[in-house]
Amino acid sequence: MTTVGIIGINGMVGRNVEAQLKKVKLPFELKTFGRNDEIPALDIAVLCTDNPVSAALVPQLKNRVKFMVDMSSQFRMTPGVPLVIPEINAHTITAQTQLIASPNCTTTGFVMSLAPLAPYYHITEAFFCSYQAISGGGKKLLDDFHTPGSLYEKNCVPLIGAIQENGHTSEELKGLYETRKIMGWPHIKVYCHTVRVGVEVSHALGVTIKAQENFDLQQVKKLWNEFPNVVYSEQIMTPKQAAGKEETFICRLRLDVEDPKVIHYFVTEDNLLKGAAMNGRQIVEYLLEHFFK
Ligand SMILES: NC(=O)c1ccc[n+]([C@@H]2O[C@H](COP(=O)([O-])OP(=O)(O)OC[C@H]3O[C@@H](n4cnc5c(N)ncnc54)[C@H](OP(=O)(O)O)[C@@H]3O)[C@@H](O)[C@H]2O)c1
Repeated sequence: MTTVGIIGINGMVGRNVEAQLKKVKLPFELKTFGRNDEIPALDIAVLCTDNPVSAALVPQLKNRVKFMVDMSSQFRMTPGVPLVIPEINAHTITAQTQLIASPNCTTTGFVMSLAPLAPYYHITEAFFCSYQAISGGGKKLLDDFHTPGSLYEKNCVPLIGAIQENGHTSEELKGLYETRKIMGWPHIKVYCHTVRVGVEVSHALGVTIKAQENFDLQQVKKLWNEFPNVVYSEQIMTPKQAAGKEETFICRLRLDVEDPKVIHYFVTEDNLLKGAAMNGRQIVEYLLEHFFK
């Protein structure tokens, strides 16, 4: 029987991955591991751990685990490591792949809005400002949020990750570099501001994109609605409505007032589901279907 292990079972993502994997119809045996557990040989391991832990675990597990799916950002930009959203680029996984990275939760919502348009529009530039949920920072940040006097209480905090030498945060740079890698568009310009807001679950983004072609709004809505797990809504969709759902919701599509090659819209998606655990489950399903039947 194929074995699938979750490493970091007590974290926000680990718990959600467990719930997601319980929904998988294909046969496999599920094992879970916490901080001090010995990890045996496995067919698939889902690492729901922070960067330093994943950095240490991946080389240790290399000879014992056939496929590793890492939720952290540690290996996302490593050449040869596929950065996978199954609806977009599952084909980048091959039988020789050993490590697969699952993308940043904010970038996920963003690229889920770009990918459906790719067959008809050459998108050259994009801007987004994010409104990111507290749970995106793991259980420590959620505990902080629930502590009286927390900076995040009734607030917006324009700092996620660490400020780099160029003044951008690590989270903002993920929006640029992970988008380029997932979409296979090395030249797209992505301008990002990332902001933490006092919302527990579901990230949101205000997005502006520019293409080489004039946009047809009806066609854009149709392309979104035809794409798996993307829903365009004529109603306002908020993080509260996206929480607990598997779809990426888009609303408020409008053409720029001056430039028909520019559109603006709002995206929201559950950061713990499509932004993490559901994407991990979809990668595991892909592996089970393609390499263990
Ligand atoms: N939260 C999100 O929305 C989101 C989205 C996408 C990606 N991610 C990424 O997913 C990873 C997990 O995030 P999270 O939000 O779940 O963080 P979290 O709530 O802090 O959970 C991390 C878990 O890792 C466990 N751990 C630490 N060292 C370990 C070890 N040596 N072996 C096994 N488990 C160990 C911790 O154990 P203890 O319980 O004992 O402390 C904790 O349960 C991070 O890399 C994060 O960047 C998170």
